[in-house]
Amino acid sequence: MEVVIMAGPAEVGDFAAGRIAELVSTRPEAVLGVATGSSPLETYRSLAARRDAGLDLSRVSAFALDEYVGIRHDHPESYHAVIDREVVQPLGLDPARVHVPDGLADDLDAACEDYEAQIAAAGGVDLQLLGIGENGHIGFNEPTSSLSSRTRVKTLAPSTREANARFFDSAEEVPLHCLTQGLGTILDARRALLVAQGASKARAIAEIVEGPVSSRWPGSVLQLHRRATVVVDEAAASRL
Ligand code: GLP
Repeated sequence: MEVVIMAGPAEVGDFAAGRIAELVSTRPEAVLGVATGSSPLETYRSLAARRDAGLDLSRVSAFALDEYVGIRHDHPESYHAVIDREVVQPLGLDPARVHVPDGLADDLDAACEDYEAQIAAAGGVDLQLLGIGENGHIGFNEPTSSLSSRTRVKTLAPSTREANARFFDSAEEVPLHCLTQGLGTILDARRALLVAQGASKARAIAEIVEGPVSSRWPGSVLQLHRRATVVVDEAAASRL
């Protein structure tokens, strides 16, 4: 695992965006795994600036990690809407090449299988961008997730629902379930790039970088990946 420590959040985003830009310059049709949450926002900001400077992302395909179950795609906090607002529009991606799991499907298990099939049909993910939850979750793979799990329905941990309540009008409005790529799905990406900023992530970063590989801290599964990079600012690195 490669660990890169940068001064602050903007530098973390700039470093991660540099890695993505490098990939897209050599492979304009790259397949990116994209993440929601606040962690990758600086990365998207830096990529948008690179787009203004001439980086063409219009042929890139993207697969989101996860989606809530049961909220309409036009709800501003659905990951369909978040990915469109934070990623597709500012980076100039082609919406037809952007995929998000369907949390409104009648048959959720079939939707999960279909999502895995879509990733495979695209030739797999070249680079998976990840944030991390304070409890160590990546995507929505909460603690105790199987290390070889595939895209599936998960129940959100109460602490994750609490952490995400800030995006909704009330805590009760936060969905109970989600669809998420599994840890096994994430490990299949040819590169993994995790970004984390701030002291609230310091414990999770210490556990996944220096602790044992364990489903207790799902991000620790990246220790098994051959090309995983963890980019953190000094605050998130403070317990290493
Ligand atoms: C969310 C997402 C994750 C994200 C994490 C951390 O709920 N499903 O992909 O990495 O929680 O969020 P944040 O970056 O806002 O701290």
